[in-house]
Amino acid sequence: MRIIIEENYNALSRKAAAIIAREITVKPTAVLGLATGSTPLGVYEELIKMHKKEGLDFSGVRTFNLDEYYGLNPEHPESYHTFMFKNFFEKVNVKRGNVSIPDGMVVDVDQFCTDYEKHIRDGGGIDLQLLGIGRDGHIGFNEPGSSLASRTRLKTLTEETVRDNARFFGRKGQVPHFAITMGVGTILEAKKLLMLASGENKAEAVRNAIEGPVSSQVTASALQLHPKVSVILDGPAASLLKRRDYYAYVEKMASQVQAEVET
Ligand code: PGA
Repeated sequence: MRIIIEENYNALSRKAAAIIAREITVKPTAVLGLATGSTPLGVYEELIKMHKKEGLDFSGVRTFNLDEYYGLNPEHPESYHTFMFKNFFEKVNVKRGNVSIPDGMVVDVDQFCTDYEKHIRDGGGIDLQLLGIGRDGHIGFNEPGSSLASRTRLKTLTEETVRDNARFFGRKGQVPHFAITMGVGTILEAKKLLMLASGENKAEAVRNAIEGPVSSQVTASALQLHPKVSVILDGPAASLLKRRDYYAYVEKMASQVQAEVET
């Protein structure tokens, strides 16, 4: 697991955007797994800048979002459909037909989830999956107790997640209590994973995910089972890591080796 600790949120966003941009440049038909929430907003802003200023081209890119609230119309202002189009898709040249987000209004949920998984497979699988982490250690909406082998399905959100998301909905009563989410097993099948965390309120979840035991109680800890994971943190999110100095040292040594190769 590569642990990158950046100075602040802006640096974290720039670093993550650079990794995604490289993926697309090397493979213009890359399949990206995308995430919503406050954390990736800066990454989307950076990617939009790169598209506008440097011509970063999304025309061949295919995307699959991690999750969507169940019971919310795609047009609802707080749906993840609205989030993705407003904050990213409308501002770059991703083709509408290349975008997949779980449908929060679907009636036959099981069939929908099976089809979603099939579309990912038919698209060649996800090359790079972007992830946030919840304060309860979730990835996607895989709340504590989710099987580490789980697939795309309907999940009941924890009280903590409902409370955390209430800030977007005005009143807690309006926050959906269910979501359709890729499973932990689905996420682990992506070729590369890129998890981001910013702020002190994520420090405990980050420590449990990176340095704790692999456990369904902290579904982000499943990342320890994946061979190609990068985690980008800011200082506060990294503040409870025991081996923080070692991770920084590894990054310093890696950039020295890279500099030597380039000279
Ligand atoms: P956040 O959400 O980026 O809004 O903190 C992360 C998550 O719950 O996965």
